[in-house]
Amino acid sequence: MNIKKIILGVASVALFLGLSACNPGEGGGDGGTTGDVITVGFAQVGAESGWRTANTQSFKDYFVEENGFKLVFADANQDADKQKQDVRDFIAQGVDYIVLAPVTDSGWEPVLQEAKDAGIPLIVADRQLMVADDLYLTYLGGNMRGEGDTAVQWLVDHIAAEGITDPINIVHLQGTIGSTAQKGRTEALDEAVKDKADWTIVAQQTGEFTQAKGQEVMESIIQQGLAFNVIYAENDDMAYGAIDALKAAGINHQELIIISFDGNKSAVQMVIDGDIDVIAECTPLLGPQIADLIRRAEAGETLDKVTYSIEGFIDSTNAAEKLPIAFGS
Ligand code: AHR
Repeated sequence: MNIKKIILGVASVALFLGLSACNPGEGGGDGGTTGDVITVGFAQVGAESGWRTANTQSFKDYFVEENGFKLVFADANQDADKQKQDVRDFIAQGVDYIVLAPVTDSGWEPVLQEAKDAGIPLIVADRQLMVADDLYLTYLGGNMRGEGDTAVQWLVDHIAAEGITDPINIVHLQGTIGSTAQKGRTEALDEAVKDKADWTIVAQQTGEFTQAKGQEVMESIIQQGLAFNVIYAENDDMAYGAIDALKAAGINHQELIIISFDGNKSAVQMVIDGDIDVIAECTPLLGPQIADLIRRAEAGETLDKVTYSIEGFIDSTNAAEKLPIAFGS
């Protein structure tokens, strides 16, 4: 056999073996499988908050080869259009699964249809989507409306327990507009305010879930001279920013009622110190649970369409107990 034929023969065997190893099987795409390792493309929102950092870390820690996974990570930098391209890139790469934590909840049908057509199962994590059920495999994450209801109910109970008779004037710092995290938490407050004659939202503006923007918005509210006694910040980072602005303006934030969301370790410490009154919990530690869903899908199990994390609230009654198990720093 001449050398050309030997090279061609070796190349054909290698090509055959390569294609066999990339058998799409139940996992979908064909370009991402490495032996038994499942390749997962994770389209992440960005790095806007402590919650997000902990969420990313949870995936990076768990989706490793010794657990049977390879993670391909894309950071959308809070840009919904970039994130759609990130998902399209995963489809082109032929990953086995896509996990999508969507920046916002709308406009996803075409991209999700492309993933479906390519046979790549897509799991929605953290924030939900406004799409038909058949376009994704399952959702795992927080019940954002439920978190808002928890926060509002805590305020109702607190007002009653403390015998507060003053009108309730609320500064509302919203998260990224169009994300379910913002929509659910905002709807809960808006509905409560509609119901209560003595509750008013004196300012309602997005702080984009960042500390810097939370501070900037609070500074402008202070400059406008608005009177308020409650801050409803849709995450811990915006609460930190608002408190920084209040301190800089010489306003005693401990005289206000400060409501936050998430439950970073430093925010839980601030509840103990009397800086934040209550945090509606939202857990970022989703990596191992998403991996479990993938394993169950691989085993042919039919998954529930929606699984919400178990979440409560953290206030002065339980903060000390929650501190050692809180996420982040
Ligand atoms: O979607 C979860 C939210 O996104 C968290 O509450 C917030 O901190 C994050 O940026």
